[in-house]
Amino acid sequence: MTPDTPSYQSGFGNEFATEALPGALPVGRNSPQRCAYGLYAEQLSGTAFTAPRADNRRSWLYRIRPAAMHQPFERMPDGRIVSDFAGVPTPPDQLRWNPLPMPQAPTDFVEGLVTMAGQGDPLLQAGNAVHVYAANRSMQGRAFYDADGELLIVPQQGRHRIVTELGVIEAEPQEIVIIPRGVRFRVELPDGPIRGYVCENYGAPLRLPDRGPIGSNGLANARDFLTPVAAYEDIDGPHELVAKFGGRLWRAAMDHSPMDVVAWHGNHAPYKYDLRRFNAIGSISHDHPDPSIFLVLHSASDTPGVSSLDFVIFPPRILAMQDTFRPPWFHRNVASEFMGLVHGAYDAKAEGFVPGGASLHNCMSGHGPDAETFEKASRADLSKPDVIRDTMAFMFETRHVWRPTQHALDTAERQREYQRCWQGLKKHFDPTKKEPR
Ligand SMILES: [Fe+2]
Repeated sequence: MTPDTPSYQSGFGNEFATEALPGALPVGRNSPQRCAYGLYAEQLSGTAFTAPRADNRRSWLYRIRPAAMHQPFERMPDGRIVSDFAGVPTPPDQLRWNPLPMPQAPTDFVEGLVTMAGQGDPLLQAGNAVHVYAANRSMQGRAFYDADGELLIVPQQGRHRIVTELGVIEAEPQEIVIIPRGVRFRVELPDGPIRGYVCENYGAPLRLPDRGPIGSNGLANARDFLTPVAAYEDIDGPHELVAKFGGRLWRAAMDHSPMDVVAWHGNHAPYKYDLRRFNAIGSISHDHPDPSIFLVLHSASDTPGVSSLDFVIFPPRILAMQDTFRPPWFHRNVASEFMGLVHGAYDAKAEGFVPGGASLHNCMSGHGPDAETFEKASRADLSKPDVIRDTMAFMFETRHVWRPTQHALDTAERQREYQRCWQGLKKHFDPTKKEPR
């Protein structure tokens, strides 16, 4: 049975090798004629077979029954999941939302997913989607996998116990969990309701960025990424397998639990990371660095240096720059930014951006500090550092334009007055006074 307390292996993209029964892993070969304990061998590949070695992702699973053993799939309601973003005109407006309310009716993780924005096409394995979720019950007798994309789960409320084919992960807010494309899992709620954000990455698997001149340490360190050890269920009885495939949900009946992998090796595997371990690096002289300095993971595009997805965080940190406006200055970027807040307050906004909420600033849409933050930061005493303790904001940033769903534009959670936060910015210009005011 799966363990009450998960165990993990440390490292990023390693060739992990783990077995829940001694000798279950074949030695020296991937697909022996006969496997120990009567197991079946099955390969799960996450990149093209011929991808360069540094990018190649695949795992070999040794399981009680192969993944092929299920009844035919049939369509099921997609709930509030959307994967076609072309039908809704995308406004250039800055957008902001309050948190998704907790459901009243019994709702599990899959039922609780609400798509906010996206772009691209899962069938072309290009683009991303952003979902928020709120759930109040564990997935029972059902497992889910996403053939469309890798899932970057950002819990915002409640402990999450994620039972996957390859082992068990527990995560709480300020941790993230990555479920690779195709890996089957269910989400359990050990302590009650959960809420969070999901970025569904249709593109290349997330990986650690190069550090360039930063050197060999800093930002997210590989050893802080934790992948579960093998754990399995040997359960016969009715189960439901839910697949997200081609932007739609499908279900198939099974007569056993799909969490029946007794041993596995490889690097296509789920993992978690505690964002509080991120080693934030910033300016110690003047000026505000670009947010790429806070990059945790990214999905590369076909263009060198341009990500299909950047996962960036704004963790607790110390701002000590001198002669500087310390919050992020006003900006317009070629990239498009979907932001969320896990915990605390975000230093560029005085109010309105609350934990569980979200904002979207698309390509070339101007944004930055609100009027109140601008006035405060313009006159702040810079002789002392600002120690920002209670915060954990993040950004799903992409080269592609985020296209809000109809729901995201129409929902009662949308803050229709968001643009007002900049309307109070005063005109200070005076051509006769050169000195900064
Ligand atoms: Fe921004």
